[in-house]
Order: sequence, then structure tokens, then C-alpha cells
Amino acid sequence: MAHLRVLLDGQPAHAVPASDRGMQFGDGLFETIRLVQGRAPLWDRHMARLREGANRLGLPLPSDDALAADCHTLAAGHHGIVAKIILTRGDGGSGYRPPQRPVTRRIVIARPLPPVDVSPLTLGVCETRLGHHALLAGLKHLGRLEQVLAQRELAARGLGEGLMLDQDDAVIEATMSNLFVYRDHAFVTPPLDRCGVQGVMRAAIIDMLKAQGSDVRLARVELHDCLVADGLFLCNAVRGVQPVGELNGRHWSQVAAPIKALQTQVMQLLGIMDHQPGAT
Ligand SMILES: Cc1ncc(COP(=O)(O)O)c(C=O)c1O
Repeated sequence: MAHLRVLLDGQPAHAVPASDRGMQFGDGLFETIRLVQGRAPLWDRHMARLREGANRLGLPLPSDDALAADCHTLAAGHHGIVAKIILTRGDGGSGYRPPQRPVTRRIVIARPLPPVDVSPLTLGVCETRLGHHALLAGLKHLGRLEQVLAQRELAARGLGEGLMLDQDDAVIEATMSNLFVYRDHAFVTPPLDRCGVQGVMRAAIIDMLKAQGSDVRLARVELHDCLVADGLFLCNAVRGVQPVGELNGRHWSQVAAPIKALQTQVMQLLGIMDHQPGAT
């Protein structure tokens, strides 16, 4: 796949109008979906999060069928793609005030699958904090400046990913993934009711762990809890489970067996082992 390929309201396109409210105000939502051999195992969860976001923002949703058709058009002829769906409130309104009857604009972008990389991550801790916003918490809305600032910091330190805390010193997630802490045979992941993105991979992992009888809880996590953990991992819908090998001088020489088992299970679910690194 030489470059990004884009469908705008179902038609090939290279540009979005400058008047678009997504571009002007971040007025919209997005999803990043792993599609391999025409299958997106987390599809229903992605659609459920879009519905929740559309409800909260008052954004009319295109049909699941239209979104699926766009993704399949872009995936045709490729082993797999990452499909990014962006839904904006289209044009119009008066400044911030949205039009009374918005016409949602649907943009679907295909990019190649990332190379397979199962090696443990080295994480930093970002200075940039996540602000509390109960109305927006959990959504994958287009306003992602906190993550952009955090990634600027990480780039300056030569790191790929880092933990993000909120204003109350709670660890919430990483810049593009959710966090699980494993300690004393229990998995803990931070609640996301004040900030953070309700990851579909996180939700699927919680269900998987519950189904196999593992102890999994939502609880406040502080940096100290991460540093004394038996293991940590990050997760998202594109890369699955990513164990952490190093955080702020703490090294985990081995990935804890239950994290490794979960990583394998998730790779199978997402079809991560089925292709060559970087293959499209
Ligand atoms: C800030 C943030 N948190 C969490 C996630 C994980 O979400 P998902 O599992 O839906 O990919 C992402 C994914 O891009 C993200 O950007």
C-alpha cells in the first residue's frame, strides 16, 4: 500500500472541505479498526462506542452497513489494513453553535498494518496531564491535543509511549493505549469516568479475563502501583497486548506468564500472527 487511501462519504477523495467542523473545532469522533482478511473481530465494540459518542454529541450516525462497506472497499485486495473512521458534524452552524440538522461527514482512511512487534515496551511518564471532563470521558472524540502534547514530550526523550496521569495523580492510560496492572494474581485497570478513552481492546480483555475466571478489577492506579507490579501491559485495537519491560528505572526481566498468555490469546483474536511483519 503506497499511501493513504481515503473515502469521503463513500467516494475516493484527497481532501476534506476547509469548512468541516471536525477540522474547525474537533467536532466529531473516530475509530481505529484492525481488519485482517475482511474480518474485524472488535467491530461490534467499535460501533457501540461510536453510538455512545454520537448520542453524547448529538451527531447523526451513518449506518453500520455504510461504514462496513467503506472499510471493505478499502481492504479489498489487501491481506489487512488499519481503517480509521472519522465522523464529523459536517459543515455549517454559526461558529461553535452547530447547525440544527447536521449532516454527518464520513471519512474512512486505510493505512498498512503496523509491523508485528511483541517485544516489551520502554515507557516514560508524561508531564502532560489529562483534564477531567465527565461529558467527554471515554469517547474517542477528535480533540486529542493532550495526547499530541504528550507525544511531543516523548519524542524529545526518544520514547514511543508513556503513561498519562490526571490532575489527581491517578494513572489513567498511555497516549494511545489503555493500561492494565498485574499484581498478586489480579489485574487492575483504571476507571475512565473522568478522562481517558474507553478502549475496545480493554473492554474485550476485561470480558476475556472474567470469562476465564481471572480476578480483574477497576480501581485507582498510582505510579507507585505500577512500579511495584508483577507486570504491566498496554492494549489497543491495532496492536493488541503490549507488555511493558521498563518504566522509570524499573525493569521487568520477564513477561509475567498470565500476561504472556493473554498476549497470545489477543494476537489470535486479532489475526496478528497470520501475516508477515509489515505485510499489507
Ligand atoms: C488515548 C487512547 N486511549 C486508549 C486507546 C485504546 O483504544 P482502543 O482499544 O479502542 O484501540 C487509544 C487508541 O487509539 C487511545 O488513543
